[in-house]
This record gives sequence, C-alpha cells and structure tokens, in this order.
Amino acid sequence: MRTDDPKAAASRRPSPEGSKETRGGPSFLSEAMEKRFAREVAKYPPEQKQSAVMACLAIVQQEQGFVSAESERMVADYLGMPVIAVHEVTTFYNMYNQQPLGRFKFNVCTNLPCQLRDGQQALEHLCSRLGVEEGGTTADGLFTVQKSECLGACADAPVMLVNDREMCSFMGNQRLDELLDVLASQAKE
Ligand code: FES
Repeated sequence: MRTDDPKAAASRRPSPEGSKETRGGPSFLSEAMEKRFAREVAKYPPEQKQSAVMACLAIVQQEQGFVSAESERMVADYLGMPVIAVHEVTTFYNMYNQQPLGRFKFNVCTNLPCQLRDGQQALEHLCSRLGVEEGGTTADGLFTVQKSECLGACADAPVMLVNDREMCSFMGNQRLDELLDVLASQAKE
C-alpha cells in the first residue's frame, strides 16, 4: 500500500512483525505454523514445493519477528532443500529480518533519485530524532531505521517503507516528525 499522508499511513497501523509474545520465540515448527506452511506448499506441484520458500520465511517472520538460523534450518527441512539455499533467500531480500528489530521498521530509500531529493537527509533526520545509528533500534524497542535500495516510487522521493508494507511518500522532516509522533502515541495505546 502506498500513501503520501504519513498520518493516514500511521492510522492504518502498520502491523509489527510478530507480537511481543512471539518475537524471537523458539524456532520449532508449531502446529499453527505447519498448517500455514502446508497451505503455501499446496499451491505448487509436489516436486516444486521449494517454491514456497519465500512464503514460509514470511510466515516465520510474522510468527517470530525475525528469521533465525534455526528457523532457516526448520524451513529447509520442511521443504527438503539445502539450508544454504534458504539462507541465500533470507539474505537476498531485505524484508527478512535476520535479528530482532523494532516494532516499526523504517526502510529509507537512499538510491540516487531519492538522494537528489533529500533521501539521505531523511535518513539522518530519523536517526537523529530517534538517537540511533543507521541500522539501529531504539532502546525502547519501538523503532529500527535502515537504509534501503530503490523502492520503486522515485517520483515520490524521498520515500520510505514502514514494516515492509506501507510506502510513505515525500518524507521531509515535518512529515517524518508527524509519523514518528503518531506511531509513538499508537504504541502507548
Ligand atoms: S530511488 Fe528512491 S524510490 Fe527509487
């Protein structure tokens, strides 16, 4: 979903990757997760069940907040593929978290078109407001700030993605501040 209104984006409550209770939880294949895996695998011919690897990793992340090495092994076992092949998928796509992150993950585009319209400044403003380095997470576990490659919305630069789902456009300092304020107050509810 894409928006150029940070308040509207926040009002749609970008969902955290995993609840507090499950974030970073044990990497075993629960009954619920197995059911979800099976639904994904059923979309492909039996000999091509490995095609479900991205979906299975997304399910792991939704359930546990990130994809651990143990979870990669679990997915590899389930799909009958080498662990390294699963790890290659996890590390190729930046929507997969390889460690626990904040409840709200910001991916700020710093590719050239966004750079030409203050993408780097947007990244630095967020880091400064939150008191973190790029890639860091706030002490309260609420926000993680990362830079990202082109998000495919160059005309709306500078842009950022919230929790891998919500595209926010024209993110100057004021709009960034508005978004931070709304998300912080949501987190208190
Ligand atoms: S360069 Fe930022 S969205 Fe394309």
